[in-house]
Amino acid sequence: MQQRALELKRAGRRIGFVPTMGFLHEGHLSLMRLARERCDVLVVSIFVNPAQFGPTEDIEAYPRDFRRDEALCEREGVAMVFYPSAENMYAADASVWIDEEALSGRLCGASRPGHFRGVCTVVAKLFNLVLPDLAVFGEKDAQQLRIIERMVRDLNIPVEIVRGPIVREADGLAMSSRNKYLSGNQRENALCLRRSLDQALALFGQGEHDAAVLRQAMVDLIECVSEAEIDYIGIVDERSLAAVDEIKDDVLIALAVKIGNTRLIDNAVLHL
Ligand code: PAF
Repeated sequence: MQQRALELKRAGRRIGFVPTMGFLHEGHLSLMRLARERCDVLVVSIFVNPAQFGPTEDIEAYPRDFRRDEALCEREGVAMVFYPSAENMYAADASVWIDEEALSGRLCGASRPGHFRGVCTVVAKLFNLVLPDLAVFGEKDAQQLRIIERMVRDLNIPVEIVRGPIVREADGLAMSSRNKYLSGNQRENALCLRRSLDQALALFGQGEHDAAVLRQAMVDLIECVSEAEIDYIGIVDERSLAAVDEIKDDVLIALAVKIGNTRLIDNAVLHL
């Protein structure tokens, strides 16, 4: 991969990159379209990264369908699908990792210790292999996106990070590879994530700036839904991800909710 990337760069081609864990959906395809518009060559990686799964998370159960993914990539004009094995990506005695220390402990990081260390390390490795000029990350993973932006800034990595908007199903559910785990009822119940965000946005629109009030309205709505268990609801500063009491600046409302055994995330940004 690195050899091919070097050849492309020597030929003056601009490389756009979308890193994924596969089981592609319309959200991923929208990121590919954003990258393709801005580059000459589009590379997509498909790698279910063991380093970002916790000891209690089942990496084997993560959905995979390489043939389908490959066909979708071809349709989107992807020049190269990079599909490494875990053995090729990580030396058995690998001992260097990237730890982002300010943003990673909050929100998803609080319930998934070590997750963002695994994400940062694999993304830096993928950048070193694919040598992209730009890479697109989805806004659904709001915390991941901000951590990657921070890593690129702090380590002077010469890759432009582009934010790709959340893509939703017609009824508002944010697209995710994990949606496939939801049964019929659970699929309906999963709408509580988006509905609770809408509720908070509506209250904010009516002039409510107390984060605790917005949060409680979200909790009340989600607690009425069967099989829904809140992991976290964060109303945080858009940049630092620190919790806010009163909304005086742009904030990110991010939440993770388990519907049965499936952990889903969603978010919205409130602009002042
Ligand atoms: O967002 C994802 O799918 C993954 O976290 C990423 C960025 C591909 C790293 O493994």
